[in-house]
Amino acid sequence: MTVPELHEITLRVNGVAYRTRVPARRLLSDCLRHDLGLTGTHVGCEHGVCGCCTVLVDGQPARSCLMFAVMAEGCEVTTVEGLAAPDGTLSAVQRAFAECHGLQCGFCTPGFLTVLTAFLTENPKPTEEEVVEAISGNLCRCTGYQNIVAAALRAAEILREERAEEIVAAGDGDGAEPERAREEAAE
Ligand code: FES
Ligand code: FES
Repeated sequence: MTVPELHEITLRVNGVAYRTRVPARRLLSDCLRHDLGLTGTHVGCEHGVCGCCTVLVDGQPARSCLMFAVMAEGCEVTTVEGLAAPDGTLSAVQRAFAECHGLQCGFCTPGFLTVLTAFLTENPKPTEEEVVEAISGNLCRCTGYQNIVAAALRAAEILREERAEEIVAAGDGDGAEPERAREEAAE
């Protein structure tokens, strides 16, 4: 049997630089889980269908089972482990999932959390239809989509509230901005 050639790569994952040696065909999902020990990224279908393995690559959702690890050289990868703050405080999306029972068995959850994190950055005030569209590439075998959609809408609300609080705390501008921010958060 021919031993595959190994390639040295440097991956930045969740703000940390990792150096590892991988065969050219090593999937990013396997590299994250087996080489770097970041097992929060789940692998379901390995065919790009279920979305469980979704991570953020330079802020955009990407199926890590459809990417080779060598392709992530020089990219900033965010896995579910990187969504919480450094002190362990859960992100707004994570908190909303807990609050709205968006977690069932949890297997698909890392993919939903990463997809929604990117989506809510681009669309802070989505409609229910837009949320459904945003998560349409992720499959949940527990089929609790209703709670996942509710969690996404709640996460958007939390993010708007946090944004309003930041504006109020900053206390700059003509005074109208904090009021507008509070109104928007309340809508
Ligand atoms: S494991 Fe990658 S999409 Fe299913
Ligand atoms: S929560 Fe079980 S597969 Fe989605």
